[in-house]
Amino acid sequence: MPTRLDAWEGRLDRLMAAVPYVLLAVSTALFLLTGSHSADYRLVTLGLAVLTAGWVALMTRWPALYIAGLVILIAALSSRGIWFASFFAFTGYLHSWQLLRGMWRFVGVAATAAISIVAYGGGPPEPTPTAILSYLFFVAAIVALVGLFSFVGDVTAERSAERKRMVSQLEATMRENAGLHAQLLIQAREAGVLDERQRMAGEIHDTLAQGLTGIITQLQAATHAREGGEWQRHIDNATRLARESLAEARRSVHAVAPGPLESARLPDALAEVASAWSNLHGVRADLTTTGTVRPMHPEVEVTVLRTAQEALANVAKHAEATRVGLTLSYMDDLVTLDVRDDGAGFDPERAKDGGGFGLTSMRRRVSRLAGTLEIESEPGAGTAISASLPAILRESPSA
Ligand SMILES: Nc1ncnc2c1ncn2[C@@H]1O[C@H](COP(=O)(O)OP(=O)(O)OP(=O)(O)O)[C@@H](O)[C@H]1O
Ligand SMILES: [Mg+2]
Repeated sequence: MPTRLDAWEGRLDRLMAAVPYVLLAVSTALFLLTGSHSADYRLVTLGLAVLTAGWVALMTRWPALYIAGLVILIAALSSRGIWFASFFAFTGYLHSWQLLRGMWRFVGVAATAAISIVAYGGGPPEPTPTAILSYLFFVAAIVALVGLFSFVGDVTAERSAERKRMVSQLEATMRENAGLHAQLLIQAREAGVLDERQRMAGEIHDTLAQGLTGIITQLQAATHAREGGEWQRHIDNATRLARESLAEARRSVHAVAPGPLESARLPDALAEVASAWSNLHGVRADLTTTGTVRPMHPEVEVTVLRTAQEALANVAKHAEATRVGLTLSYMDDLVTLDVRDDGAGFDPERAKDGGGFGLTSMRRRVSRLAGTLEIESEPGAGTAISASLPAILRESPSA
């Protein structure tokens, strides 16, 4: 983006390019207006000035040749009129410094200075040591001054170029950062959407789908019931399941802890879930708790509870077991839940490709908390599901 400084710099460059011509014009005008030279002398000098202007305009592409010619032209002009040494000679310093490199800059400046001083002195110095020494001193002084000023100018220009480079680098970095930022935002949003979708899928599976499965089972049992008491029991079960599922679905929409965990500690909530399941399905389910019971982070407790619910739902659906054992263990840095049944068992490798969502969702929940899930099962030899979670303590000590 061009700044006001850039505009000024452009203007300054154009001004510097015009300087030699302006100086030449001023020198020539003063030469023509003052002194009492013959018309021929003036005409030759004017021709020389025009030649010099052409040289400056055309030859700057070959620096060494150009400066050599320029110095000769300055000498010729200065010998014809002092005004050229006073004004136009400045071009010799300017262009020597601008166009030459290294030591050659000083050579160009020194040559220009030598000519100017000869012109001012009205000829070369007398061949006395004093005259030659003072002549050399003046040349050296001019070279030193021009060198000093130009050096300061160069440093300033270098600094400003560096600053400009830094600014454009910074701009590029900022643009890049803005792009990265946008990309990160999109990725974060996508990850958030995916996460939330997985969470909702898990919740729907664990609340509504499980509830509906239970309700269907109870209604089917009711249709086959022979006596009114049994029929009524199944209908009551179905109604209770429907109410519970509705409540759980509402809780999961609001991301509230599952009902059983609301007021009870995890072992009590698990015992409640196990005994309700046992009553419903007529299969014995025992809970054993080992280690020191500590209140865990809600996410950990919810994951343990949901794992137990899905494991029990699977036992009811697939195992035809006669007994289920749940073990909840509190260790130093782990909380583990084992659910074992003595039912039909299955091939876990095959179940991976199956259409079921329960085990997948279970695994996802556990690994979201950096835990591990192991499934041991064999057709005919029962099933053991084991979830290990990091023992992250609940923050507030009140629970
Ligand atoms: N305790 C178990 N006993 C016997 N087989 C089981 C047991 N648990 C799981 N399985 C087998 O593993 C498969 C996958 O279980 P998963 O819970 O993922 O799906 P699902 O129960 O079939 O369906 P969903 O849970 O999505 O309603 C089941 O279809 C079943 O064959
Ligand atoms: Mg299942």
